[in-house]
Amino acid sequence: MSKQILVRNIPSHVAEWIEKQREEHRMTQQEFIVSILEKAYASTQAPLFLGRARIIEKPIPECLPFRFIDLFAGIGGFRIALEKLGGRCVFSSEWDKYAQKTYSAWFGETPAGDIRKITPTDIPDHDLLAAGFPCQPFSIAGVSKKKSLGQAHGFKCATQGNLFFYLAKIIKIKRPPVLFLENVKNLQSHDEGRTWAVIKDTLEQLNYKVFAKVLDAAHWVPQHRERIYIVCFDKKVFGDQMEFRYPDPPNGVAPRLADILEKEPDSKYTLSQHLWTYLQEYAERHRAKGNGFGFGIPDPEGITRTLSARYYKDGSEILISQNGHKPPRRLTPAECARLMGFDPEKYKIVVSDTQAYRQFGNAVVPLVVEDVAREILKAMSAQLARQNDCLLKKNGTQIQ
Ligand SMILES: C[S@@+](CC[C@H](N)C(=O)[O-])C[C@H]1O[C@@H](n2cnc3c(N)ncnc32)[C@H](O)[C@@H]1O
Repeated sequence: MSKQILVRNIPSHVAEWIEKQREEHRMTQQEFIVSILEKAYASTQAPLFLGRARIIEKPIPECLPFRFIDLFAGIGGFRIALEKLGGRCVFSSEWDKYAQKTYSAWFGETPAGDIRKITPTDIPDHDLLAAGFPCQPFSIAGVSKKKSLGQAHGFKCATQGNLFFYLAKIIKIKRPPVLFLENVKNLQSHDEGRTWAVIKDTLEQLNYKVFAKVLDAAHWVPQHRERIYIVCFDKKVFGDQMEFRYPDPPNGVAPRLADILEKEPDSKYTLSQHLWTYLQEYAERHRAKGNGFGFGIPDPEGITRTLSARYYKDGSEILISQNGHKPPRRLTPAECARLMGFDPEKYKIVVSDTQAYRQFGNAVVPLVVEDVAREILKAMSAQLARQNDCLLKKNGTQIQ
């Protein structure tokens, strides 16, 4: 049931802000104000698993009013996906000032900075911790799989100074029921398997059941992009028998590069003749040696190679043919956004081309995250249902 509230005497700077924001978010004034009020209201509710109040606003399992935190947030690829499924972000951390600028423009909040300086107890309680943490080797050479387990000289020493250590510290203190981590495909083979051994053992030692799978975003967007998606469940909440199933690739038409290309890109994205000659000679030298390195010009009917954070340098990994009339061009930042599944009309680019290329090259593909998260929500819903005979009716009374 809805009610009418009439508010007079809105200060003019607030009214102007509302007008600007609602235009940016393409909402009516009423929709925008209600969305702010709903956010404020939701902030007074407890997390799903840690508190007592449970308010299911939309039918499960497609949507759950869960709380999450967004660490190593970048430009918020996780956040876009999780908010779509009913999640509410209660904390974010990202130290790069350009990524912070984008994040602030898109979500109206500037993430906290360096994760190493965050006191875990200052982080609000949450149901899910999301993080696309950087992949770094652990400093102790030769740390064995067993040694990386809880012994003082194992986990603690092995991970000191490594950013994963700070993540583990937050997990240990905040105990989020669900962890959702993303990393490069080769995480499991990195540093001869040691990096993954330390990470997995640490999470297991913290009493989480760990699932990991490499998914290729090419089923969602026209880009070959394999990433490992690690999903962990606190055994204390979910038990140790639980199973987790990763999503199947979406049905339907395969993504095509042609669908994300601009019709009239700015001529500044065309390579100089000098760079184009250099790239061709470089590729030829490597071909002669039997190496596969060199520029890539994908078929517009197909998909591209992986967009990397270094794309801003020469863009050689993904070049767009201009039918031989002139040298090929690199992708525009807006095309990179679409290649990653971000809508540049909704999420406007607010940084330089260089920063935008870096940000998209570093990001997660929100569509993949969304489909994995949908499976996580199913597990969360099932667990909530197990914990409660009825979700909304208790001891013969109805939760008001
Ligand atoms: C792989 S990117 C994550 C991108 C993100 N998932 C997205 O969708 O945009 C890792 C991020 O961690 C950030 N980072 C690295 N060290 C950090 C630190 N000490 N504190 C906070 N953020 C850090 C980097 O700036 C980078 O944006």
